[in-house]
Amino acid sequence: MKAMRVAAFGAPPLPAQLAEPQLRAGRTIVRMEAATVGHIDRTVWGGKFLRHPPFPYTPGVEAAGVVVASTLHAVGQRVWLRGSGLGTLFDGTWCELIDAPDEALGLLPDAVPSTLGSAFFSPCTSAWVALHDIARMRAGERVLVTGATGAVGSLAVQLALDGGAHVIAVVGQAAQAAAMPPAAQVLVLGDDPSEALASVSADLLVDTVGGPLLAAALPRVEPGGRAVLVGYTAGNGLALDLAHFLQRDVALLPLNMFRRDAAGRAAAPELLARLADGRLRLDVQPFALEDAAAALDWIAQRGHRGRAVLVARP
Ligand SMILES: NC(=O)c1ccc[n+]([C@@H]2O[C@H](COP(=O)([O-])OP(=O)(O)OC[C@H]3O[C@@H](n4cnc5c(N)ncnc54)[C@H](OP(=O)(O)O)[C@@H]3O)[C@@H](O)[C@H]2O)c1
Repeated sequence: MKAMRVAAFGAPPLPAQLAEPQLRAGRTIVRMEAATVGHIDRTVWGGKFLRHPPFPYTPGVEAAGVVVASTLHAVGQRVWLRGSGLGTLFDGTWCELIDAPDEALGLLPDAVPSTLGSAFFSPCTSAWVALHDIARMRAGERVLVTGATGAVGSLAVQLALDGGAHVIAVVGQAAQAAAMPPAAQVLVLGDDPSEALASVSADLLVDTVGGPLLAAALPRVEPGGRAVLVGYTAGNGLALDLAHFLQRDVALLPLNMFRRDAAGRAAAPELLARLADGRLRLDVQPFALEDAAAALDWIAQRGHRGRAVLVARP
């Protein structure tokens, strides 16, 4: 079977022929239909994650496909896969036949295509857990979302609106405003984020960008409010004036979806139902399995929309 293999940190993933996996206790073999290329895969690939599979390895933390051998699931069952060591401890999902721990799998409804089934978990559950499990968002609150054009940010905007919040969606350029739901208030950053943000105040910040944008957005949270930190694409430092921080009493709350995996899995069926009937939307950009390197580049570019997924040739 074909797999994309990485020989060293940062080396391009290259196709290789591997022996087909054999069924073992506690594992399910899945024929891959779509496998996500996400920021976590870039982090592992770049040697910046806390662990990585031994080299050479098959990347890929998420996927969707069909069960071909299992003691737990019926052959032919459509499933999504995520985590449980896939692509971080041992070989992952960028291959034709995935050898997955049983606990990595979830059932994929017929109405959700494999590309979406592969890509949904990280952005949808991250946004859900950030809003509901971590921030305990309440209807009527003002929720400021940075990186609102991104996968997690766009889901946070949609889910906060669904939860009855007043949403302020932060985008970089005026042209991106059209992509936001009409019910959201859109704030365009332009050249001076601090000036652009000066007129808003919020009860809750969901920050998916980090760096200087987090520094500019944090003071916009009212005293007693909360700020959930999701990502640090724009920089991983934040300088705090401690006196100011204590006086303002805004709770800085990190999101770590590996630690919050159970909460994400608990929310997955509801999120899949909303994706199936169109209440939630997530764009996916398919690439051929062999084009994994191009997908890794694509997700690192500003202005890309949605999630990259590798699709197996029929
Ligand atoms: N903590 C966790 O457990 C967890 C879970 C999921 C994701 N994450 C992290 O969350 C982050 C967002 O994930 P994602 O999937 O939403 O990524 P994404 O789809 O690539 O979106 C990135 C967003 O950030 C914006 N952005 C990027 N660089 C920026 C900058 N310098 N200034 C202002 N805006 C900038 C992009 O705007 P443009 O559209 O204008 O380029 C876009 O809206 C990533 O760092 C990811 O690793 C963390």
